[in-house]
Amino acid sequence: MHFEIVDESRYDEVLNYLRNHFHDEPLNVAVGLFKKGQTCQLLENYDMDTMRDGYSIIAIDPDTNKIAGAMLNAISSLGDPELELERMKCIDDIEFHRLMGLLLRHNSDAQLFRKYNVEKIFELRILSVDSDYRGRGLGQELVKRSEELAREHGFTVLKVDATSFFTQKILEKFGFETVKTVVYHDYRDADGKYIYNTPPPHDTYKIMTKVLSNEPVHV
Ligand code: ACO
Repeated sequence: MHFEIVDESRYDEVLNYLRNHFHDEPLNVAVGLFKKGQTCQLLENYDMDTMRDGYSIIAIDPDTNKIAGAMLNAISSLGDPELELERMKCIDDIEFHRLMGLLLRHNSDAQLFRKYNVEKIFELRILSVDSDYRGRGLGQELVKRSEELAREHGFTVLKVDATSFFTQKILEKFGFETVKTVVYHDYRDADGKYIYNTPPPHDTYKIMTKVLSNEPVHV
């Protein structure tokens, strides 16, 4: 597998890849923001902002020259979760509110910048592996490379909104710790129906962090 940092020449290819390989992320399955192959403009704006930070990584299969996996990373600054929550007030899309609003509210509550006394946090935002390549350690490799990249650029705190049980398992292997656990089935609408009816085994969303020491990355 060949790995590279995403630059402008790959943006469209990555967006197209995610349309076809990120639809089964558990929160998206639950709220139905987009289905396989569909475009969700709000999500793609978020993906574009993330890629423009210049820390996203893709895995390319050298045999096909196609993307096999992606880890989109970005830098979050002090005050960003609150700013984004404010911006969301202008967005009239219930699915996007349910998905992104959940993450932003819990991030704001967690007060991570104060907790770690930093102004910047390296966020591992979107992890996706093409279903043809899953279960072979590619997700793990993308996380490892993201951590190395953060380290090279001098970041000391990594954060992930781990909405998938599989991602949580990967992160635990790398020494990430859980700052906050949100149980999806704790949320019900006015009729008592689950708002986040995620497929098993994805029962929780966890905010997970890792404070970097000078040790190299290994599992
Ligand atoms: N069943 C059980 N355990 C699994 C499975 C599975 N289907 N897939 C992954 N795991 C667990 C295993 O514990 C595995 O470790 P092990 O092999 O030592 O047992 C660990 O995850 C790592 O597996 P990888 O092979 O490195 O992961 P993979 O390349 O399959 O990618 C990923 C995992 C990215 C979650 C993939 O399933 C995917 O793209 N899912 C859809 C999108 C998604 O949910 N993304 C994550 C959302 S959270 C976020 O983006 C930050």
